[in-house]
Amino acid sequence: MKKRILTGDRPTGRLHLGHYVGSLLNRVKLQDEYETYVLIADVQALTDNFDNPEKVRENVLQVAMDNLAVGVDPKKSNIYIQSMIPEVADLTVYYSNLVTIARLQRNPTVKTEISQKKALFGEDGGSVTYGFLGYPISQAADITAFNADLVPVGEDQLPLIEQCREIVRKFNSLYGEVLKEPEALVGEVARLKGLDGNTKMGKSLGNAIYIGDSEEETIKKINNAVTDPNKIKKDDPAEPNVCMVAYYHSIFSKNEYEDICKECRAGVRGCVNCKRQLADNINNELSGIREKRKYYENHVDEVKEILKQGTANARIITKETLKNVKKAMKIDYFE
Ligand code: TRP
Repeated sequence: MKKRILTGDRPTGRLHLGHYVGSLLNRVKLQDEYETYVLIADVQALTDNFDNPEKVRENVLQVAMDNLAVGVDPKKSNIYIQSMIPEVADLTVYYSNLVTIARLQRNPTVKTEISQKKALFGEDGGSVTYGFLGYPISQAADITAFNADLVPVGEDQLPLIEQCREIVRKFNSLYGEVLKEPEALVGEVARLKGLDGNTKMGKSLGNAIYIGDSEEETIKKINNAVTDPNKIKKDDPAEPNVCMVAYYHSIFSKNEYEDICKECRAGVRGCVNCKRQLADNINNELSGIREKRKYYENHVDEVKEILKQGTANARIITKETLKNVKKAMKIDYFE
């Protein structure tokens, strides 16, 4: 029997290069080897977008198209919508007894998100709902509903996988060995920095290059990247280690990277051309992907059908898991 992958994203915006190197490439690479389920986490997105359901709904399709565009193949993988799987909501309720409020408040990912919210909206706007604080429990339900072996994610998700593993151990020790402890798998670039020098590329940080951006948008964003502030003129020597363009070259221009650094340090490489070269390389890497995305943008009914089928396939597994969980918890009354 094949091992299983479960992973996915919140539909709060289109996916960007950070998702691409952090998790999407792994999904595509591993979908032959693993039985793969990719969730579009609309329930989780609603935990902090409950006042904007339109945004979540619109982005369910956007995120589905991003996955299909990069090569998640609906013939091999199942893309499904979280809220269409009621078993996951059931599991979330049962698991919530196994997690203390203090433990949720200590989760580093949750902590970071709360402080980001406070920075954006003030102490008040950053007030935390029960639903938001509890989303790691719902994420543990996502993963264990499939008894997933592997969860390809970006580095920011590691504390959530760790919390899931704790829930699994607690459940199994109380009720018997029913759930599997998943492993996380982080992509080649664990956390892609922003072109603005931010430690992370993020849709909420306004520094993202989206998979679905046009070539022109990509060029424009790269032109605004942070470079060595000591370089004023085109032929001033500069230090690639403090330049975000050079950092992106190290990821998207691997073969040229050594020469790029040499030329930069020697002052024989102007920033304008250097940025252009990076934009060209990224645009080349994404050109097939963007073409595929265009296809799906023009065939939305096909995307919906893929989601419908993926969701139906997913439910076969989650129903089975819920049955086992309820049996272990002795709440399988009419069986
Ligand atoms: N937390 C992930 C994000 O912010 C989305 C997600 C929900 C997820 N459930 C998951 C990721 C289960 C991996 C496994 O994008």
